[in-house]
Amino acid sequence: MKIIEVKDYQQMSNKAAEYIIEKVVQNPSIKLGLATGGTPIGTYKSLIEDHKKNGTSYQKVTTFNLDEYIGLAGDNKNSYRYFMDDQLFNYIDINKAKTNIPSGIAADFQDECNRYEDLIAKHGGVDLQILGIGSNGHIGFNEPGTSFASKTHIVKLAPSTIQANARFFKGMEEVPTQAITMGISTIMKSKEILLLVSGDNKKEALYRLMNGEISESFPASVLKNHPCVTIIADKAAIADLKVQC
Ligand code: F6R
Repeated sequence: MKIIEVKDYQQMSNKAAEYIIEKVVQNPSIKLGLATGGTPIGTYKSLIEDHKKNGTSYQKVTTFNLDEYIGLAGDNKNSYRYFMDDQLFNYIDINKAKTNIPSGIAADFQDECNRYEDLIAKHGGVDLQILGIGSNGHIGFNEPGTSFASKTHIVKLAPSTIQANARFFKGMEEVPTQAITMGISTIMKSKEILLLVSGDNKKEALYRLMNGEISESFPASVLKNHPCVTIIADKAAIADLKVQC
């Protein structure tokens, strides 16, 4: 894993956007894996600014998001479909038909998981997957204890994840308790992974990722088995690594 240190959230966002833009320019039909949450918001802002200023085109790009809450339709402000439209897709020239997110209101969620896994495979897999990390080491919504062999599946969210995500809802009781997420093996099949880590509340997770063992009790540790991972982390998140040097 290669780690790039940047000053702060803004620099992380700029660097991540530069990274993604370069890949899109090299391969206009790239399959991008996208994340939601607080971490990539700045990156998406930078992509929008660049699109307006330099005209980088996403017309041929296909996207696959990591996850979606079960029970939320795309027009619900807290759904990840709404988030992606609102934070990125509405402001670039992407073809919405090429933007894929698991459905939170499918008639049969197991069928939806299978459909999503197959859809990614049919497209030849994800070329570049953007990831954030949970303070408990989750990637996507793969909570500690998830099998490294998991495919797209239904998850029960950990209490710590519900608590962390409550900031986007009116209250904790409004946060859905289940989600559909790409599995760990789905994520690991991506040709390349870009992990973004920012802030003091992520420093223990980053320390454990860099120094801990590879174990299903810390899902992100699986990334050490991937041949092409780049981490962009800011000073606040890297702080604990420095203490050890
Ligand atoms: C989001 C996702 C999650 C987040 C993680 C960090 O699609 O899959 O794994 O990346 O929970 O969230 P933030 O960025 O809000 O700290």
